[in-house]
Amino acid sequence: MCKSTHHQTEPSIVVLLEAEGFEDQWTTHLLNEHPDAEIRHWPDWGDMTEGDYLIAWKLPHGTLEKATNLKAIFSVGAGVDQLLEDPGFPKHVPLVRLVDPTLNIGMAEFVSMGVLSFHRNFIDYLEYQKLGVWSPIAQVQPNNRAIGIMGLGQLAQSCISSLTSYGFNLAAWGAPGTEPLEQIPCYEGKDGLAAFLARTEILVIITPLNKHTQRILDREMLKNLPRGASILNVARGAILSEQAVYELLNEKHIDRVWLDVFDKEPLPTNHWAWSHPRAIITPHIAAATLPGPAATIVAKNITRFEQGAAVEGIVDPDEVF
Ligand code: GLV
Repeated sequence: MCKSTHHQTEPSIVVLLEAEGFEDQWTTHLLNEHPDAEIRHWPDWGDMTEGDYLIAWKLPHGTLEKATNLKAIFSVGAGVDQLLEDPGFPKHVPLVRLVDPTLNIGMAEFVSMGVLSFHRNFIDYLEYQKLGVWSPIAQVQPNNRAIGIMGLGQLAQSCISSLTSYGFNLAAWGAPGTEPLEQIPCYEGKDGLAAFLARTEILVIITPLNKHTQRILDREMLKNLPRGASILNVARGAILSEQAVYELLNEKHIDRVWLDVFDKEPLPTNHWAWSHPRAIITPHIAAATLPGPAATIVAKNITRFEQGAAVEGIVDPDEVF
């Protein structure tokens, strides 16, 4: 009796696909929760009709069409757009994004670092040091610094609470239909975006890439930012037009950008952002998934699927693209 109950809640196979070098750590944590599970690693999937659960960041297009018996697909990250880029993505299989408090902490750290670097002219001082220049820049009080958080989700909210503690003049923007926050002014949809940008000196892009946000920050939209504004993008490259950012930097409409995400990653060696004097780049590390906590969350979600219980983070693929 006991044995058969146990058996019912053990997935037979978990396929762990491409966890960017952390496969062994993922496996250890998954086996802690599901000791009888068989874990396979991409590309050694074997018969792709075998496999109950898939954990992946991004797959070669066409892969998932062959995995016909999956009970759920888990993203290794908070975003799922990279999986849904595959035209053959099986939309009937539940797709789960990673909801992990450690991502919120990492994101709040990184965004605070970026915003404070712009706000306190840290990058200017790095340049001054190289030039041998001793020149204080007038300090702006945080309540006179308008920060715009483009996003209203859990990651955005974590950044908002961190930035609130400095006393910044904060506002946020959400895609149509997003629940506004009570504590700061919120703008919504494409119409609200122009007004939101017009009051923003430091723009933080931290919203999912989906049908509402893809390329929403084109040249025309970005020109709503006041002259001298800066941009920190920690979401997805495809939310903005990289070409428009390049032009507006060169026209000195935008002062500086810090880009952690790009249309094409790794960033091609001939991309302008590598050497642009007003651009800082980081290699998509704003909030890295840590295998320990993330694998434990996914393993517990697998248990919930096996038990038919509710799972947090299920995404409607038609809402994304
Ligand atoms: C990273 O970009 C993620 O989606 O977690």
